[in-house]
Amino acid sequence: MSPGKPSILVTGGAGYIGSHAVLALKRAGYDVVVLDNLVYGHRDLVEKVLQVELIVGDTGDRGLLDHLFATHNIAAVMHFSAYAYVGESVADPAKYYHNNVLGTLTLLEAMLAASIKKFVFSSTCATYGIPEVVPITEDHPQNPINPYGATKLMVERILSDFDAAYDFKSVRFRYFNAAGADPNGKLGEDHNPETHLIPLVLLTALGKRESISIFGTDYPTPDGTCIRDYIHVSDLADAHILGLEYLLNGGSSEVFNLGNGNGFSVREVIETASHVTGRDIKILECDRRPGDPPVLIGSSDKARKILNWQPQYSSIKEIVSHAWQWHQKRHE
Ligand code: UFG
Repeated sequence: MSPGKPSILVTGGAGYIGSHAVLALKRAGYDVVVLDNLVYGHRDLVEKVLQVELIVGDTGDRGLLDHLFATHNIAAVMHFSAYAYVGESVADPAKYYHNNVLGTLTLLEAMLAASIKKFVFSSTCATYGIPEVVPITEDHPQNPINPYGATKLMVERILSDFDAAYDFKSVRFRYFNAAGADPNGKLGEDHNPETHLIPLVLLTALGKRESISIFGTDYPTPDGTCIRDYIHVSDLADAHILGLEYLLNGGSSEVFNLGNGNGFSVREVIETASHVTGRDIKILECDRRPGDPPVLIGSSDKARKILNWQPQYSSIKEIVSHAWQWHQKRHE
């Protein structure tokens, strides 16, 4: 452990956003322990690239958690681990409620038993459902339209109640569309199955897929395709360090949106990718994907003001370029 810095437990540290947060923690001088069940995470990322301790297991395993907290000097937990496929959550909600809600509750109970009361939580803009106004601020009503979003909202509610009853302090981050990759090329996005727009477009550019499907061209947007707020994963990771330090310095429980405040349409993302990669990307215009809101753009003014968060990579070109650098290295 570095002098003066506490150890941080990162659940889901072998996944996309979690691994970038581990890198940011290491760069800030923290000692890190990763808990990941490796269902979707990558062992090599933690052991070889990040070179931090990996404990393989579930957040729902109370015995394992009690042992972990008894044998490590953990000051706070960053909780990334969750199932996060919206479509799958509709088809198999039990899997999502069990892991995302019950698993998290077990983790929180084990933390309380070990008197660890600082928690940084990965929530999502999916807790808002269909926005009534954009940009979405943190006080926008939360009416999730799929079980995935509902599981994250339930945990947010548990965290509020734990604060009131047990003085348990949390920062809840509601991410918009996490994208991009570590600018130094150490880490990137590697989901299996992949469902997200930017990696699918880049896999098409690499020739790993024949075409990219545009899900819906008749939305009430300027070019008819959905608009999203893409936020660079390294900027997300930096926000987690700021949120953690806010809590370690005695901050009260808070919720923050994390987005870049700019919206880009599906067509704009594909055009940017054609430009960045210099390759032809074949497009298929398809029907709408059920459950997609036409426009999701977040206001992150609160995180900028209270945490002094200053995203570094807000252009879609930079976000796609960093993702491209990672995908080329990984697949060519
Ligand atoms: N899209 C396509 N073709 C594809 C994949 C996606 O046109 O092959 C479109 C989608 O319809 C959407 C946009 O690209 O309009 C972005 O889609 P992603 O799947 O990349 O991201 P989502 O906006 O669906 O999902 C993100 C997070 C989820 C979160 C959700 C909230 O990844 O975790 O926002 O709505 F729940």
